[in-house]
Amino acid sequence: MDGNGRWAERRGLPRVAGHRAGAEAVRRALQAAADQGVEVLTIYAFSSENWRRSDEEVSDLTALMRFYLERELKTLEKERVRLQLIGDYQAFGPDLAGRLEKAVERTAGNTRLTLVIALNYGSRAEIATAARKLAEAAVAGQRDPSDIGEEAIEGELQTRDLPPLDLLIRTSGEVRLSNFLLWQAAYAELLFLDIMWPDFDEHVFAEAIVQYAVRQRRFGGR
Ligand code: FPP
Repeated sequence: MDGNGRWAERRGLPRVAGHRAGAEAVRRALQAAADQGVEVLTIYAFSSENWRRSDEEVSDLTALMRFYLERELKTLEKERVRLQLIGDYQAFGPDLAGRLEKAVERTAGNTRLTLVIALNYGSRAEIATAARKLAEAAVAGQRDPSDIGEEAIEGELQTRDLPPLDLLIRTSGEVRLSNFLLWQAAYAELLFLDIMWPDFDEHVFAEAIVQYAVRQRRFGGR
């Protein structure tokens, strides 16, 4: 969800105004995904590198998440959206972590769409943790190292219960993955859009689905 800051700066507004508009774009993206029959929507709300931002911006983002969680929990329930989390969200402190966990619990039975929020998420750390767990199991004699392959690693990733990633969209004209779902994106279709995230809406989403539909997915075959 890139480009909130630039969207705000271009309007002479503070960065937090961009994040607020970005959060509204999340609502639109979620609605569009539900309407289009998308099974899982994963949003990158805070990367493990985002702690490098000013204390003020981190605190604005945390407050915004708390506000939206409070306000939108009913919407998630009404729209039958299941909330899941990836990343080390405990780092946001017991209050926000507790609220997030409560929302996950309250929506656990919903089946229309799964919204995954990546919070304090970093893909390399996720893969390193998976490797460490497998190594520990091997040392403890619970696993044969020669049996550790792609499936074993996949089974330790935080996305293990989710279907394969089909389409990855990045906004704001940046053409890189920035430590997001690196393993999972191995065969995903990548779509880089020039628009800033706050301008994302159901029309952009529909166009993205059209672009995805015309791609030829061969998964290495011919
Ligand atoms: C990237 O734009 C955006 C973020 C780092 C934060 C995204 C978070 C939200 C929209 C908060 C709401 C989240 C939920 C789950 C409701 P940027 O600041 O890097 O933009 P720039 O590259 O233009 O500076």
